[in-house]
Amino acid sequence: MSTPELVTVTIDGRQVQVPKGMGLVEAAAAAGIEIPVFCYEPRLGPAVGACRMCLVEIEGMPKLQTGCSTPVADGMVVHTAQSSEQAARGQSATMEFLLLNHPLDCPVCDKGGECALQDLSFRYGQGKTRMTFHKRSLEKPVPISPTIALDRERCILCYRCTRFSQEVAEDEELTAVNRGALSMISTFENEPYRGPFSGNVTELCPVGALTSTQYRFKARPWEYEQAASVCGLCPVGCNVTVQSREGKVQRVLSRNHPEVDRGWLCDKGRFSYPHLYSEERIVTPRRRGARALEELDWEQALEELAGMVERASGGVVLALSGSETLELAYALAKIVRQGAGSDRVVLPEQTSDALDPFRVPIAALAEAEEIVVFEDCPVLDRAPLLELWLKQARRNGAQVTRIGPSGDIQRAHGEAALACRELAEKGNALGKRLRAAERVILLWSGGGSAGGTHLAALALTLGLNEKKGSGALLLPASPNARGVAEAWAAAGDEDRQPKQIGLLIVSGDEAASDPQVRQLAEHARATVALTLFAGDSGEWADLVLPATSYLEREGTMRNLEGRLQRLRGATGSPVRSELSWLVELAVRLGVALPGSEAALFAELSAQALDGISLSALGERAPLLPHGEARTFEIPEAEEPPILLGGPLELIRYRALFSGPEVEHVPELAFQRPATEIEISPEDADRRGIADGSDVVVRSNGTRVTLRARINAALLPGMVRAAATHTSELARGVEVSRP
Ligand code: SF4
Ligand code: FES
Repeated sequence: MSTPELVTVTIDGRQVQVPKGMGLVEAAAAAGIEIPVFCYEPRLGPAVGACRMCLVEIEGMPKLQTGCSTPVADGMVVHTAQSSEQAARGQSATMEFLLLNHPLDCPVCDKGGECALQDLSFRYGQGKTRMTFHKRSLEKPVPISPTIALDRERCILCYRCTRFSQEVAEDEELTAVNRGALSMISTFENEPYRGPFSGNVTELCPVGALTSTQYRFKARPWEYEQAASVCGLCPVGCNVTVQSREGKVQRVLSRNHPEVDRGWLCDKGRFSYPHLYSEERIVTPRRRGARALEELDWEQALEELAGMVERASGGVVLALSGSETLELAYALAKIVRQGAGSDRVVLPEQTSDALDPFRVPIAALAEAEEIVVFEDCPVLDRAPLLELWLKQARRNGAQVTRIGPSGDIQRAHGEAALACRELAEKGNALGKRLRAAERVILLWSGGGSAGGTHLAALALTLGLNEKKGSGALLLPASPNARGVAEAWAAAGDEDRQPKQIGLLIVSGDEAASDPQVRQLAEHARATVALTLFAGDSGEWADLVLPATSYLEREGTMRNLEGRLQRLRGATGSPVRSELSWLVELAVRLGVALPGSEAALFAELSAQALDGISLSALGERAPLLPHGEARTFEIPEAEEPPILLGGPLELIRYRALFSGPEVEHVPELAFQRPATEIEISPEDADRRGIADGSDVVVRSNGTRVTLRARINAALLPGMVRAAATHTSELARGVEVSRP
C-alpha cells in the first residue's frame, strides 16, 4: 500500500500533520482537541452532518462548517468553539435547539450516566432554557420489537439508527417518517424491527431514545461490575463487556475489536443472557431415582461420579460440545485419559491445522476484491457477524460469489469439493478471476470440508499464501471446535480405545442433543451429563451435573480465525464452577489437575500452544503467527446426482435463533426461524407446490407441516430447512401438498 499524502492544518493554533482527506473531527483529535459530535460515527459510512454539534470556523469560509463532514486541506486554519466565539455561539445554539423539546427526564432515563446529550449539555449547554411553551409530548415508550423500546420524545434525529439499519445491517427496517418538526423514527407499517443485528441501535443511539427492554429500569451504568470477555455462542467470538450487578448479568455490550467485530453484536449474543436465570436451569446435581431425577448435594454427586468412573473400568467415553473453554476441555480430557485410563472422545466436528497458513483477520474481508463463500449452511446462522463483514466488502466493491444451496452458482450440497476443483481449473471463469485478483478470501460454511483440508487445497492451488490480504477461513459449527480438539490431544497420547462403554460423560447441551451421542447413551452402562438445562439429557442421563455458561466462565477459546481469546466470567453464578469440583474429582482419581484456569492454561500452553502466555492474549487478542503452507491434493468428487423422483435430500442447519439460550428467553421468540423448507423450482413444479404454500414433509413415519420457499439456487433433489423444525426427520424426505 502507498503511504498517504500528508497535509498540514492549524487547529486552535496547533499545527498538525494528517493524511489528506481526513475529517476535521479526527484531525482535531490528532491535535489533542475535542470537537463534540452526536450524529458522527465513522462505522456508519460517510458523515451526514445531521446534528450540527460539530460546528467550527474555518478561515476563508464565510459560514460555520460541520467538522465531521469537512475534510482537511493543506494550510487550513480552523477554530473550534474553544477559540472562536462564532463557533461557540453556533454550538450553543445547536445545543439549545436540541434540548427545546427534549424531556430532560435524565433521573428516570436508562441512558443517564452514559448519555452523550447529558454529558455534552453539561459541558457546552447554557444551563437554562428560554423555552416557555409546553414541550412536545408523544406516546412512550413504543415497543419497536420485543427487545427494543423507542421513546420518541428523547430522540434528537441524528439518524444513527436508520443509517445502521440501511447501510450496515442493510435490513431496511428503520426509517424516519413525516417532515420537519414532526419527523420521527419508525419501523415500516409499525411492524416489529425484525433483524439479527437490531440491538446495535440501542448502543448507537446517543440519547435514551432506543433502549433495551431487558435493561430498562434495572440499574445505573455506574453500579455495574464489568468483565471484558468474548461471546461464546458462535465461532466468531465477538468481544463483549458483560455487566453484572449483585451477582447477576444485566447487560451484554459490544467491545470493539476492529479485526473481529468492529463493535457490532448479533441479537443472540446481546439479548440471550436472561437464559442464565431461567427457572428451568439446573443449579444442583441430580441423580436418576426410581421415578424421576432427584436432587443430591455435591459431596454425594462426586462420590457417585467417582464410583461410576471406577465401575467403568477403563470404558469411559467423553463427548464434547465445542462450547467448552480450552481449560475446561483439557481438565475433562485429563480426567478421562489419565484418571479413567480411557482414550475415547466424541468431538463436535472434524478440525485440522491445514488452514493455518491461510489465516487472515476477519476484517480482511472488508478489503478483499474477490470472496467465494461455500455455503451449505447460511453464513448468517453459523457465524452471523461475518454476514455484516460480507455486506461491508460488497459495499467496498468486492465480488462476493456464493456457492452452495443458497448461492448464486448452482452447486449441490456436499459437493463443494467438486466446485473447488473447477475453481482451481484455469478454464473456469471464476477461477481465472481468483487467480488474477490480489486479495482473495475463501469462506467455507458447513458440509464436506474434512476440517478445512478441501479449502486449504484450493487456497494453495490459488497461491493465496503468497498474496497479502488473501486467505481462507472455515466456519465451524461450534464456537471452540478447534480448541477442544487441541485440549483433548494435549491431555494424553496413548491409544486405549474401550470396546464397551462403561460410562459416557456428555459435556454441554449441544452434545446432549446430538443424535450420535444419544445413540452412544443407549449403549452405555451409565451416563453423566454436564448441562445448563435438563431438556435432552434429563431423559436418559443417570447423573446430571449443573454446568456454567460462557458468561460465567474464565478461560480461553479459539475462534474461526484461529485467534485465542480470553473469557472473563461475570461476577456470580447460581452454579458451582466446573473446575472447583473437577479438582476434587481429580484428587479422588489420582490425577494432578491444576487448581485454576490460569494454571491449566499454562500447562496446556507448554504442551500444545508454543508456551504462549495469557498476558500475550490481552484484552483484544492478536492473531498470532502461523505455519507454512503445506501441499494438498484437491479431493476427488463425483458429479452430484440429479434426482427428480424419490426422496429428496434434506440439508439441515442449526438456525441462529435456536438452542437453549434462545428457547429460554421469551422476548427472542419472535426471532426464531420461520417454519419453512427451501425447495428447488423443478421439485416444486413436479409436486405442484406453490411458493409460500403449506407442504407436508415425511420420513420414517414422521411428518411435519412447513411452508415451501422456492429457491432457484437449490439443485433438484435437495431441500433445506432449519434443524429446529426437522430434527425428527431422516436425511431422505418426501415433500408433498397436504
Ligand atoms: Fe438518533 Fe437515537 Fe433518534 Fe435514532 S433514535 S435518530 S439513534 S437519537
Ligand atoms: Fe457533525 Fe452531527 S457530528 S453534524
